Amino acid sequence: MNTIEVALSQSEFGCFDPKSKIVVVVDILRATSVICTMFKNGVSEIIPVRSIDEAKTYKQKGFMVVAERNGQKLDFADFGNSPFYFTPDKVSGKTVVYSTTNGTNAIMEGSKADTVIIASFLNFSSIFEFLKGGQSDVLILCAGWKGKFCLEDTIFAGALAYSLINSGNFTTICDSTNAAIDLWKVASPDMHTYLEKVAQRHRLKKLGLDDVIDYCFTMDQTTAIPVLKGGSLIRLC
Ligand code: MLT
Repeated sequence: MNTIEVALSQSEFGCFDPKSKIVVVVDILRATSVICTMFKNGVSEIIPVRSIDEAKTYKQKGFMVVAERNGQKLDFADFGNSPFYFTPDKVSGKTVVYSTTNGTNAIMEGSKADTVIIASFLNFSSIFEFLKGGQSDVLILCAGWKGKFCLEDTIFAGALAYSLINSGNFTTICDSTNAAIDLWKVASPDMHTYLEKVAQRHRLKKLGLDDVIDYCFTMDQTTAIPVLKGGSLIRLC
């Protein structure tokens, strides 16, 4: 029987032991939804970087750079962070350097584990099937917002934890996990209405970038599972 735990924000991640676990990084609005979309559309490799300076250096070396802070595209970047930008003609076969407000930090944090995979509602069933049949304990890392809890990542964590426990292969004594499951049960009957509470949707709305909300909450748009290998994200399967 495997265990499942949830770190509700990056600030909490240090309270968990990621060793010999599969860390599942989630940032629904919008980083992991964007990453899953890029792999759906054929990107070869995504290099996550923490700092703006690192992203600038890659840009100077001729890399395609996708970078935002507080939702807005950085001036030197080729693209901001809407999943709708990354059509096959833009990303197929490409290497993309990626830096966001929270998501890429969470990925680098998660790299303390042996295995880091990227999840969103867009690849939910693939992630579930991959974890369900495995022999590893799972730690879901919610990217959150600047170290704080956020509703959308926790709703996802609850959905995944609920499914894995119901599969019969997982158990938990983690209060964060049970809280996330309860949040999923509260939100899922009428997700559209519940999402009105989500702070990030209002931040994106102020920037005119909230056209992605429904897409980011759409299940199973890709079977891709991005995995962190040698500092880059590649397609596991
Ligand atoms: C994040 O990294 O928290 C998000 O991706 C930020 C955004 O895209 O607005």
